[in-house]
Amino acid sequence: MSVSERTGAGGARGRRTRRTRLGVLAVMLAPPIWAGSACRASGPGPEAGDQMLASSPERSSRADEPNTTDGIYTEEQAARGHEAYKEICSECHETRDWTDPAFLERWEETSVYRLWYWIYERMPHGQPGTLSRQQVTDALTYILQLNGLPPGETELATDDDTLDDYWIIWKVQ
Ligand code: HEC
Repeated sequence: MSVSERTGAGGARGRRTRRTRLGVLAVMLAPPIWAGSACRASGPGPEAGDQMLASSPERSSRADEPNTTDGIYTEEQAARGHEAYKEICSECHETRDWTDPAFLERWEETSVYRLWYWIYERMPHGQPGTLSRQQVTDALTYILQLNGLPPGETELATDDDTLDDYWIIWKVQ
């Protein structure tokens, strides 16, 4: 079974469902929001208005909430993650596994917790359950660092609630 099949069940599909719902919502909301608004009346016309409407709900949401571009780990933590990578993960992985466009796309705009749990539950392949919460969290911050996401003042905590507080956004705006 391929990686994409597996993660597809949790990651990508959930996202598509939400997107679709947002799309439906946008259509339902269209008349009350835009009827008579300046955008439609004096702007470039109804089609452009509809485009603005269609893209605005999903573009703004995740990136405006707490996410991985906010400096949610420390340098020291990512350095520990790097050690874990060298000791454990590098047996099977290269760092480019985690900067690969397909990987990034798969996890973009999911919660940090989802990726964390995926690793916690399944890695190392063949020996799941042998990593501590701390090791998984540290390794995850190393993955953030590999992608150029900025460190901050506070370590990423290992409890479910904290991990679930952040969305994964790979590109710093
Ligand atoms: C014994 C080999 C092995 C080790 C050690 C290992 N992995 Fe993996 N890893 C795999 C394989 C094989 C897959 C893909 C298959 C699967 O879905 O389980 C994978 C998939 C992943 C993915 C999913 C990537 C994606 O494309 O969505 C992540 C993240 C990951 N590993 C992280 C880690 C981390 C972090 C460590 C070290 C703490 C680690 N792995 C150690 C073999 C390994």
